[in-house]
Amino acid sequence: MQNKNIRNFSIIAHIDHGKSTIADRLIEYTGTLTKREMEAQVLDNMDLERERGITIKAQTVRLDYKGKDGQLYQLNLIDTPGHVDFTYEVSRSLAACEGALLVVDAAQGVEAQTLANVYMALENDLEIVPVINKIDLPSADPDRVKEEIENTIGLDTSNAVLASAKSGIGIEEILDSIVDYIPAPEGDENAPLQALIFDSFFDSYKGVIAHVRVKQGHIKKGMKLKMMATGKTFEVTDVGCFKPQPVDVGHLDVGEVGFVAGSLKDVRDVQVGDTITFADNPAAEPLPGYRGVTPMVYCGLYPVDSSDYDNLKDALEKMQINDAALVFEPETSVALGFGFRCGFLGLLHMDVIQERLEREYNLKLITTAPSVIYHVFKTDGTKVDVSNPSDLPPQTEIEHIEEPYVKATVIVPNDFVGAVMEISQDKRGEFKTMDYLDENRVMITYHIPLNEIIFDYFDRLKSATRGYASLDYELADYQESKLVKVDILLNGDPVDALSTIVHKDRAAGRGRQLASKLKEIIPQQMFEIPIQAAIGSKVIARENVRARRKDVLAKCYGGDISRKRKLLEKQKEGKKRMKAVGSVEVPQEAFMAILKID
Ligand code: GTP
Repeated sequence: MQNKNIRNFSIIAHIDHGKSTIADRLIEYTGTLTKREMEAQVLDNMDLERERGITIKAQTVRLDYKGKDGQLYQLNLIDTPGHVDFTYEVSRSLAACEGALLVVDAAQGVEAQTLANVYMALENDLEIVPVINKIDLPSADPDRVKEEIENTIGLDTSNAVLASAKSGIGIEEILDSIVDYIPAPEGDENAPLQALIFDSFFDSYKGVIAHVRVKQGHIKKGMKLKMMATGKTFEVTDVGCFKPQPVDVGHLDVGEVGFVAGSLKDVRDVQVGDTITFADNPAAEPLPGYRGVTPMVYCGLYPVDSSDYDNLKDALEKMQINDAALVFEPETSVALGFGFRCGFLGLLHMDVIQERLEREYNLKLITTAPSVIYHVFKTDGTKVDVSNPSDLPPQTEIEHIEEPYVKATVIVPNDFVGAVMEISQDKRGEFKTMDYLDENRVMITYHIPLNEIIFDYFDRLKSATRGYASLDYELADYQESKLVKVDILLNGDPVDALSTIVHKDRAAGRGRQLASKLKEIIPQQMFEIPIQAAIGSKVIARENVRARRKDVLAKCYGGDISRKRKLLEKQKEGKKRMKAVGSVEVPQEAFMAILKID
């Protein structure tokens, strides 16, 4: 197809503003899929995604559209993940486009991730077409939302489309705006190939399939190509586009978007942001912006039943085939036995992986509280990165510790400014800026430790603002902090998996809270269990779980065997999520309790 008839675009929006619903409508309207073929949400096709209503893996679809001028256009919609954990993938998807539809909910207006996404789009020089969605809602106020967009983003909204994806209003206008306002791609068909990888997935027949945007040159079946960052070479066996299922069309020309597959067996060879070029006549330079993904959050995953260790290893390996951002290595814990330390892009990524392991691989897991990566500078002049609190060297060997900070952006109605400030200050945040979006809503930014964000920051914000707060954050830097490790001892034995790293000034309070929380969670057993919190050898808090007085079976005097069996079954069920730590049975919640302390 001639470049002048191609448009490459993304849809950017805050979560729940209707991105997927609009994508569905565009697919339906252009007849790419008939209504019958459409599942409720074609683009969100993973079960988990559907349940949680979030887009995790980006997908792409080519729409054929006959414009007002009677010409045929190829519109490539590149779907972007909508969550802050996947920011880097969003930025690469945007780099594959010339423009973006900015979808804003007509009732809710601009939110934190609307802004984060718009800034990313502007950094990639994209033409932005505003779409005010959900105008069918009684509370819709498109004029206010337009004003908000003009004031906060400085974007002209005179060409904004008013739409309702639900009622099918404005869909044709959106398609026409894409043709009219988004620039056609440019690039030299005959230059050495430069194709940007913006996503990849694993297919058990074809191997790894790369989603690409051809920036320069072209791709044909049989060509020998090379990944510029990883150096991996391969021969093209399949090349085509998504409609939305992959269709092999034999070639991708300059400006087009589609997929390439070849003898690629490992997702790690196919990295988002990398550039594909000719193996023999490579482009002089890769496309800008490549960086390897680095996990921000780590946690330990242990099988409840230690005989499941190999199954867990297998499952993690299989998951990694689909998800290059997941990293793991074996780890042993005195308390939990053999397991894995796993690294994730963020909390959502962690939740999703955990859930999939349990659901798809039928594994029962104990998860330890997530941790960030600390830079520990030792007195002997060396530096170690610590992602597991129990690996923190003894206090005497530590010169100082640095922890990651993020720039957090919170948008709230102005009635809640006080609440946001109180919580953020309590979370060791440093106030940076405050701006009014309009007379009712405020954007506040804080410099705040990532560690505090993963400790229920968003939950607290949400509940203090009746759900109105929206949050976005990005890694800012590492800064020195006075941090110590709080250990937990059960029955006198330290439980390594319950250690946490906290700020020195809060250690005593946190220790007390943790001990009393654990007292609630750990069930009574045949003997008394002392729970202690300690920094080094200094005990800072103590609680006791009293011994259980009665035997559960004592109630069923004598004969009723089936009743007895039922009780025992019930106990066994409860025990499945327990881990014997020394002589103490500890339930799964205990390992997460660290996170849920007010
Ligand atoms: P993420 O995938 O989480 O980023 O969300 P999204 O932006 O893709 O939102 P999605 O399309 O899943 O829509 C969110 C909710 O809004 C769903 O319950 C939709 O049914 C609803 N919705 C979408 N468009 C409209 C609309 O025009 N009007 C109304 N009333 N509801 C809509």
